[in-house]
Amino acid sequence: MTAQVSDYRAWRVHQTDDGFVGAEEVCHVADLPPGEVLIRVNHASLNYKDALSASGNKGVTRQYPHTPGIDAAGLVVESATPEFAAGDAVIVTGYDLGMNTPGGFGEYIRVPAGWVVPLPADWSSRLAMVYGTAGLTAGLCVDKLLQVGLKPADGPVLVTGASGAVGSIATELLAKLGYEVVAVTGKADKADWLKSLGATAVIGRESLVAQPKPMLKAAYAGGIDTVGGDVLAEFLKQVQPGGSVACCGLVAGVQLNTTVLPFILRGVNLLGVDSVEIERDDKAAIWQLLSGDWACPGAEDSFVEIGRDGLATALKAFLSGSSSGKVVLDHARS
Ligand SMILES: NC(=O)c1ccc[n+]([C@@H]2O[C@H](COP(=O)([O-])OP(=O)(O)OC[C@H]3O[C@@H](n4cnc5c(N)ncnc54)[C@H](OP(=O)(O)O)[C@@H]3O)[C@@H](O)[C@H]2O)c1
Repeated sequence: MTAQVSDYRAWRVHQTDDGFVGAEEVCHVADLPPGEVLIRVNHASLNYKDALSASGNKGVTRQYPHTPGIDAAGLVVESATPEFAAGDAVIVTGYDLGMNTPGGFGEYIRVPAGWVVPLPADWSSRLAMVYGTAGLTAGLCVDKLLQVGLKPADGPVLVTGASGAVGSIATELLAKLGYEVVAVTGKADKADWLKSLGATAVIGRESLVAQPKPMLKAAYAGGIDTVGGDVLAEFLKQVQPGGSVACCGLVAGVQLNTTVLPFILRGVNLLGVDSVEIERDDKAAIWQLLSGDWACPGAEDSFVEIGRDGLATALKAFLSGSSSGKVVLDHARS
């Protein structure tokens, strides 16, 4: 099938003398990179990595102008592989999408078939993007903890960056699975919301500032760290013998100033989680869970929807740490 469209609109970032500036512009389908599947993007999800791309972080995006958007959901327009047909509802997250491949902030993307996952039955593209990479990552973190045998009876679990996109879904999902969740947040005004998602206690981020003591009282069976840095280092000091922490984020810093003591004195497991480059089937398995037994109604109800004209402001909030909950881009709003 031949694509009927030649031009589309995208929010593209340019490198200028005044820094990196994003704006809507007309792009051409013919200029999209090669790939087996052309997709009309209906919705995209905003992520911290998009904010890095939009602000010129060369570790994420090497060349500009560039269209960010590491998550996209929509309909197949054209497929060079029998695996997908025009009209199929699909999700693409991660791999190189939105990094150096034009991403979901444009109305069209063209990607390798190996990046494309069928949209779960009964899900809309909007709902898929309410979860987005954040939901996928929260699901992967929980899956890792289950794989190493962490059980609700083992004790309370901690979730850091709890008001963020990954943290809020992780909080709700762990609570739903029966865990006693202690949520760590820098936003006192989010405490009631986090409790409504299932957190049994909410503590301030300042309770995890760096301390000279190499170990602290073992208070948690484990949990999910979405921020890294000193917060993760202090968390590890408080994990019970044999406990496990899944870690996925870096907003509090990429350095992890720890000692080997949590690992060799308490046998603590630090489990890294990558949602980007893992096998497509592993992503699909988590999407299926999130669309079924792992559905998080609280997260599904607490998202903000914007058009392309709201992207600049929303992305800045990620960088300042003032974002909370999910932000979904609806291309039809712009
Ligand atoms: N490994 C992967 O595949 C993967 C996938 C998705 C995301 N990530 C990473 O996971 C992290 C969280 O992503 P997200 O989408 O949830 O981002 P987000 O929505 O911006 O949430 C991050 C949260 O971290 C907390 N925070 C912000 N600045 C902080 C600081 N300086 N120190 C401590 N806490 C801080 C805030 O929550 P509180 O105010 O509640 O503390 C904030 O809401 C990011 O680093 C992102 O890059 C990794």
